[in-house]
Amino acid sequence: MRRMLLSMTAAVALSLAAGPLQAAEVEVLHWWTSGGEAAALTVLKKDLEAKGVTWKDMPVAGGGGTQAMTVLRARVSSGEPPTAVQMLGFDILDWAEQGVVGDLSETAAADGWDAVVPAALQKFSKYDDKWIAAPVNVHSTNWIWANKAIFDELGLAPPTSWDELIAALDKIKGAGKIALAHGGQNWQDATIFDSVVLTTGGPDFYKKSMIDLDAEALGSDTMKQVFDRMTQLRGYVDPNFPGRDWNLASAMVIKGEAGMQIMGDWAKGEFINAGKKPGTDFLCFRFPGTQGNVTFNSDQFVMFAVGDEGRPAQIELAKAIMSPSFQSAFNKVKGSVPARTDVPVDDFDDCGKKAMADLKEAAASDRLMGSMAHGHAAPAAVKNAVYDVVTNHFNGEIKTSDEAVQQLVAAVQAAQ
Ligand code: GAL
Repeated sequence: MRRMLLSMTAAVALSLAAGPLQAAEVEVLHWWTSGGEAAALTVLKKDLEAKGVTWKDMPVAGGGGTQAMTVLRARVSSGEPPTAVQMLGFDILDWAEQGVVGDLSETAAADGWDAVVPAALQKFSKYDDKWIAAPVNVHSTNWIWANKAIFDELGLAPPTSWDELIAALDKIKGAGKIALAHGGQNWQDATIFDSVVLTTGGPDFYKKSMIDLDAEALGSDTMKQVFDRMTQLRGYVDPNFPGRDWNLASAMVIKGEAGMQIMGDWAKGEFINAGKKPGTDFLCFRFPGTQGNVTFNSDQFVMFAVGDEGRPAQIELAKAIMSPSFQSAFNKVKGSVPARTDVPVDDFDDCGKKAMADLKEAAASDRLMGSMAHGHAAPAAVKNAVYDVVTNHFNGEIKTSDEAVQQLVAAVQAAQ
């Protein structure tokens, strides 16, 4: 914790010291620091450099972006916002409300963004009918990433129900491997929670509890079962899980130390970056019982109001992000799918093809839902309240599911 605080202070200090932007330069704040994430970001950097735009990198480590948002607050209050910031869902709307973001509407109109970006994403890319962000991808959280050799050795098939999942985890544990690779950080616990809520209560329950924040659903017996199941999953995690970064958990599956990881499809970026092939070295499947549903999050680059000098490079950045060829190249490496609906599917690997088909199916049947863990179900205050309860329960500080449910109802209410 102390180390994290120190490094955050250092990051803030560094960012506050940042000098004025040069012409044709973009300063981009993001949290893409893992191997797979950095590889994807390189695609964007190179693209811009080829257009004569210099990239000033401002990485703030920390999956899910909480630390990055802290650094952003410091930058904006010092009157020096970065050119563009990686951001999720409701955070985008919060910043727009503060009146500190730029306007991309002219570029969006000229390049026809309205026609190619799905409505579920536009909800977060626009404020007051103006385009304020360029969406780079669509991720989803209800995935499991598995080591194929372990599955083959133990005669396991991808589980399709909760009971099958537990049976598979038992088998892996029984074989002396770590069944579930996990990092004990609040956003990672919450990422698992997204899927457990969805599989336990189904899509209507997910919407009622996580999106509508309905007190009855939050306090229901179904929610108690969700917490019971979180406790069950906790039993398959190794003792060294506290504080572990998500990409190190992915590495445990990659190396065959662990059988599975429940994580959004940015995990695929780690497997690809390690030279692994889907279907040969690793398996991707929807969290058991959630096929047909997608809990999504979309990384968008929010453009801050930077004044006339910074504008041209900012527009170049937005245009580059929205170009179909870039969206294809980037998302193949990142593990996500394009934010545009007109990017050809053929170039993607099997997990990418599945992600694109699932997204289409879910959107057509009203089963595309914002991820609570990744800021697309409710504003940050509510998200953080959910994080607290889920994490305290996962770590045994909240002892029973009854107590967890009571605290969830109270915390969500207080945060609204
Ligand atoms: C998510 C983000 C992804 C990925 C992940 C882990 O919130 O949308 O792009 O980076 O965090 O860092």
